[in-house]
Amino acid sequence: MTHFSANSPQARDIASVLHPQTHARRHLELGPTVMTHGEGVFIHDDEGNAFLDAGAGLWCASLGFSNKRLAKVAYEAMSKLGYYQIFRHASHGPAIDLSEKLLSIAPVPMSKVLLQCSGSEANDTAVKLVWYHWHAQGKPEKRKIISRSGSYHGSTCVASSLTAKPEYRSGFGLPFDGFLCTGPLNYYRDARPGETEQQFSQRLADALEAQILEEGPETVAAFWCDPVQGSAGALPPPAGYFQKIQPVLCKYDILLVADEVITGFGRTGNMWGCQTYGIVPDMITCAKALSAAMQPISAVLMNERIFQSVAQQSDKYGAFIHGYTYAGHPVAASVALETLRIYEEIGIIDHVRSVEPVFLETLGALCEHPLVGDFTGVGLIGGLELVRDKVTRENYPAELGLGARIDAQARRNGLILRIVGNRIAFSPPLIITEDEVVELGARMRRTLDATYRDIRAL
Ligand SMILES: Cc1ncc(COP(=O)(O)O)c(C=O)c1O
Repeated sequence: MTHFSANSPQARDIASVLHPQTHARRHLELGPTVMTHGEGVFIHDDEGNAFLDAGAGLWCASLGFSNKRLAKVAYEAMSKLGYYQIFRHASHGPAIDLSEKLLSIAPVPMSKVLLQCSGSEANDTAVKLVWYHWHAQGKPEKRKIISRSGSYHGSTCVASSLTAKPEYRSGFGLPFDGFLCTGPLNYYRDARPGETEQQFSQRLADALEAQILEEGPETVAAFWCDPVQGSAGALPPPAGYFQKIQPVLCKYDILLVADEVITGFGRTGNMWGCQTYGIVPDMITCAKALSAAMQPISAVLMNERIFQSVAQQSDKYGAFIHGYTYAGHPVAASVALETLRIYEEIGIIDHVRSVEPVFLETLGALCEHPLVGDFTGVGLIGGLELVRDKVTRENYPAELGLGARIDAQARRNGLILRIVGNRIAFSPPLIITEDEVVELGARMRRTLDATYRDIRAL
């Protein structure tokens, strides 16, 4: 029985809403935190609490949680052309302008943009494009896709198959055949004693090559990578990783797809994670900060090689038979375009670079804390590794529920965290100021102190 008063948002929520990524049964007991409004990096609930959201929602509210300028653009777009599709040779200004803009800022030469509605759709579509490409090249058996252990690429059936995290797959009987994974990639956890980051990266590249040879290179179509692994707990690649794996992919003619859904648009201190790590992809998927998360929109950028395959197959099939009703939606595209203008006007890349040292130093200083074993970060991404023993790197037993304890304590300190297993991922809105970063660090320290006290008192 619910303990919420009748007709409260909480009671109505548990009676009607199935929440993604939420323990369905426990939610009936706990109910939701009902958010009412946002201002800058703070989000407010209906009980008058304000939280600093250290994860920008889901890595996406790059400009914070409200924006009047984008609201005005959405209103004007909806007043002028609230909807039209881009199927069968139809087009409109916002889709053209946005595609052109994305090509102009792409990290490597790209040929065409395919607009979609979410990061999952973008990855799902990019998988179809990979298969389409190899079919066009007369190599339909080149079909397997390798993604990286711990990476999240979305929740459609194909994106879940790409997502190399067992909990995203097993209850659904996924992955589909031919979705393979490589790794693990956490230097702190997975390196051998005495192994340098470069040696660790070389070992990963060697393992990848061995896996490709075992599968048969003629069956491996593409390699998927998120430049920084957000859902592995904000894990940047070990030094030299992309320099060592890319030659392996080239050697066996395996396409490289960069999932920039969280890293695109300034997050790593460059416009793209590909620039930060020297990645040269055949396709890029992006979403989230593309529209500052104010509208659902995503994009697949493809190079000329892929586009030529699509063109060739159109000759065969009469069209590129793929598309979503809302692809290139004029309101979403207008908001995305305005978001990119705002980034330029406020110098978002320079801003991220200027706040980065304080961000990395403030969170890095938490390594002294007894609960913290390691910190890694880049740009405005940071990941803390939780440990019980700093020397052996042993974890607290799962039954202790350390993550849940930290999460609850953080809420009491006005902080929203993203905790993944034994890591805490930080990805605040890109507009965060130095003072707000210091405040974030202070709330985090109070949270860790209180949790540690509680654990010791058990
Ligand atoms: C790297 C990455 N790819 C894809 C997705 C899926 O995006 P969406 O939730 O918009 O479908 C996410 C979402 O968090 C992500 O982090």
